[in-house]
Amino acid sequence: MKTLGEILQKPSLNIIGLMSGTSLDGMDAALVQLTGCGTKTSARLLGFTTIEYSEQERAEILRLALGEEGGSKSLSQMNFWLGYQGLAACYAVCKQAGLSHDDVDLVGSHGQTLYHIPVAEPYLGMQIASTLQLGEASVIAEGLGCPVISDFRVRDMAAGGQAAPLVPYSEYLLYRSETQHIGLQNIGGIGNLTVLPRGCSLDQVYAFDTGPGNMVIDRLVAELTGGECRWDEDGRFAAQGQVNAELLEWMLSDPYFAKIPPKTTGREYFGDSYVKQVLQRAHELSLSRNDIIATATQLTAQSIFLSWERYCPDRPELLIVGGGGAHNHTLMRMLREALPVPVKTNEDIGMNGDAKEAVAFAVLANECLHGIDNNVPRVTGARHPVVMGKISQ
Ligand SMILES: Nc1ncnc2c1ncn2[C@@H]1O[C@H](COP(=O)(O)OP(=O)(O)O)[C@@H](O)[C@H]1O
Ligand SMILES: [Mg+2]
Repeated sequence: MKTLGEILQKPSLNIIGLMSGTSLDGMDAALVQLTGCGTKTSARLLGFTTIEYSEQERAEILRLALGEEGGSKSLSQMNFWLGYQGLAACYAVCKQAGLSHDDVDLVGSHGQTLYHIPVAEPYLGMQIASTLQLGEASVIAEGLGCPVISDFRVRDMAAGGQAAPLVPYSEYLLYRSETQHIGLQNIGGIGNLTVLPRGCSLDQVYAFDTGPGNMVIDRLVAELTGGECRWDEDGRFAAQGQVNAELLEWMLSDPYFAKIPPKTTGREYFGDSYVKQVLQRAHELSLSRNDIIATATQLTAQSIFLSWERYCPDRPELLIVGGGGAHNHTLMRMLREALPVPVKTNEDIGMNGDAKEAVAFAVLANECLHGIDNNVPRVTGARHPVVMGKISQ
């Protein structure tokens, strides 16, 4: 077992970042060679892979995430099961990069969010905000023989933050520019926008969730294809439909889009019951499958445009899109039509858009290892900077 002392002596580290997002598509693993820390960090991606969940596995995560039944026995089992998925993803990414498990120095694991309550609610006589990510880090440490840093979000929340989004910290380290004012739009289940003003310091970075990314599109596609498709592959359904102005206007009138950041959202808000309402409206308007999907796709594009226009005091001169939504060509076309600035993919600038969030957890783990504060209080609303992450060794 590698010790923290040994790792800290090394000039560069091989760190695996693990992420399983709200889309529940699978466990992402990015193997990153990281040199330095803080603003001196440089990162080289050595490998990236995803262990996809089966339909049955996804349904079970969703069942627990919705908090319907399950109870603590299932949560306990799920915690270890996700730990084994994380370990399998580590093995797979080592294989892909042609490295042995012994070459890995550290793992940074986000786990899978099961529940996220960013704004305090009454509970047992107190006001409680909470968040729960599962994927037992000890299982990964045991299998890989190196320390694992996990459970990042809870520390920010304990400091009064909304514990999301966390990726802006690594975006600040890896994407900031002295010459360009950059917007980074991630389109996972939820959409998040990070703004890196030209030559910014960390406290000038701002970021927030723009609303649903693929979550509403995915759910509608699953419903309208009778479960045959899980998402709109390359945006093909949407490309054949017409955006319905009435439905779009109704969707955009949701109070979330008018909320001033910091703000964060999730499946609890834009999940099944939201989609049911959308379907009901759509049926009242007698819309076809492709029209409904086109309208939901335009909702994501418009919510990003409105975020850029309303909540970015100095508007970015370039938008770089990452996350699975970057593969949806219709969404990318709608975004390019909506925004008056160039819209690029991570690949256009030599980065990997699918790996970005997993890379972020490798970077956050490296900061935690070095005892460096790794939240962005301006983004999460935390009272002060903290070192997020718990170490299993
Ligand atoms: N070829 C594709 N065409 C359209 N959408 C895609 C494609 N590939 C991935 N996606 C979308 O990306 C989602 C996964 O994105 P990801 O960034 O992993 O999100 P999360 O972080 O929420 O897991 C899928 O659920 C799907 O909506
Ligand atoms: Mg994913």
